[in-house]
Amino acid sequence: MTVTPAEQRPILSADDVDLSDRYFWQRPMAEREKAFELLRSLDRPRFYREIETSFAPPGPGYYALVKHADILEVSRNPEIFCSGDGGATNIPDMPAEFAEYFGSMINMDDPRHARLRRIVSRSFTPRMIKRFEADVEAAATKIVDDLLETGSGCDFVTEVAARLPLKIICDMMGIPERYYRFVFDRSNIILGGFDPEYVGDVSQLAGRLLNAGMELQQLVQDLAAHRAENPTDDLISSLVTANIDGEKLTMQELGSFFILLVVAGNETTRNAISHGMRLLTLHPDQRALWLSDIEGHTPRAVKEIVRLASPVNYMRRKVTRDHVMNGHLYRKGEKVVLYYWSANRDAAVFDNPYAFDITRDPNPHVGFGGPGPHFCLGAHLARREISVMFRELLRRVPQLEVGEPELLFSSFINGVKRMTAHF
Ligand code: HEM
Repeated sequence: MTVTPAEQRPILSADDVDLSDRYFWQRPMAEREKAFELLRSLDRPRFYREIETSFAPPGPGYYALVKHADILEVSRNPEIFCSGDGGATNIPDMPAEFAEYFGSMINMDDPRHARLRRIVSRSFTPRMIKRFEADVEAAATKIVDDLLETGSGCDFVTEVAARLPLKIICDMMGIPERYYRFVFDRSNIILGGFDPEYVGDVSQLAGRLLNAGMELQQLVQDLAAHRAENPTDDLISSLVTANIDGEKLTMQELGSFFILLVVAGNETTRNAISHGMRLLTLHPDQRALWLSDIEGHTPRAVKEIVRLASPVNYMRRKVTRDHVMNGHLYRKGEKVVLYYWSANRDAAVFDNPYAFDITRDPNPHVGFGGPGPHFCLGAHLARREISVMFRELLRRVPQLEVGEPELLFSSFINGVKRMTAHF
């Protein structure tokens, strides 16, 4: 049974931490930080019962991996900790009817994962991202033009942070501008977590998710049918037209890949930009430092923003054979959840882990996942977008500040729904 926020006990020891109580994810950030610090101080990972959902009976439970070392080892050993058996993006096993829309490569293992990644990764190399550089810069300039035109401020999330990733991913795929809002609304539902603003009543969640998936798949498949006959230089055309190795995506693969791109590429970067702006508002010394040499500080500052923002809180894996890791025996069939947000605050790896330090170096954060076959495909693009957005903001609105963020109610995405900006 879940408790309501009013009944929540203060967190005094690791026994008070229940990651499967959905209201845990509504606690203030400082309490969540304390909770994960307590979990990291234990010798062994905690085992939790599974979150109840309307679309799957509760599964057997999961170990919460909160230490940086555990997350590296799991990510490096995909044949022992797999993504494919029930999915990596969800703690309960994904029901069969979800696979049509959400069964993309992030939820697969090799060799199927490797085949899909090979086909799509040609479009995500630094060289290809460079091709979109001018578009990213033009889009950021226009966003800041519009911000300045408001005269005094706006909602930072919808008017600034959300616009750049949405436009770029839609441009790459060749999605016309009139569909931006449609795509934005559906990705909000898919990553809406427990938040009633996006997912309504939790009992209706499965239907709403499937509907959003179906609508996005329909949009991309309609465009793809057209591109197969009239190819252009966009991503959809290259994915549905056989390339040099004769490999191409089927329509179902294209649909679920598009859904993955839209949700993975939009919300994550949006939230990194929003958290970054909040960090700059709270730390004027770091803003002044960044302003003193914008080009020079940007690469490390962006890394530090992704570390502290950790826009994706976790991924899940399933154990394929009995295995001892860092002193603990994991048995075949057990689940482990990799809490990146926690690993990015692990004092065993990061000095002064709660400090926002734009010169931090080294900064081996796991915000884009650990080292392994699923490491974020869009990491180059995301870094580029965040860099260009902040460069434009710092140059043209150096005094911009944001208010208290209104956070998304979710255990999976560290989302910001709204946050007023003023200058
Ligand atoms: C700050 C922004 C971003 C963050 C924090 C982020 C984070 C992540 C994480 C944690 C994973 C899973 C890694 C794993 O399972 O080991 C992932 C995978 C992925 N991301 Fe990102 N991501 C971001 C931006 C993007 C963008 C812009 C795109 C695409 C346009 C993208 C596309 C993907 C894809 C396709 C995968 C699956 C890769 C695979 O399974 O091989 N991401 N990302």
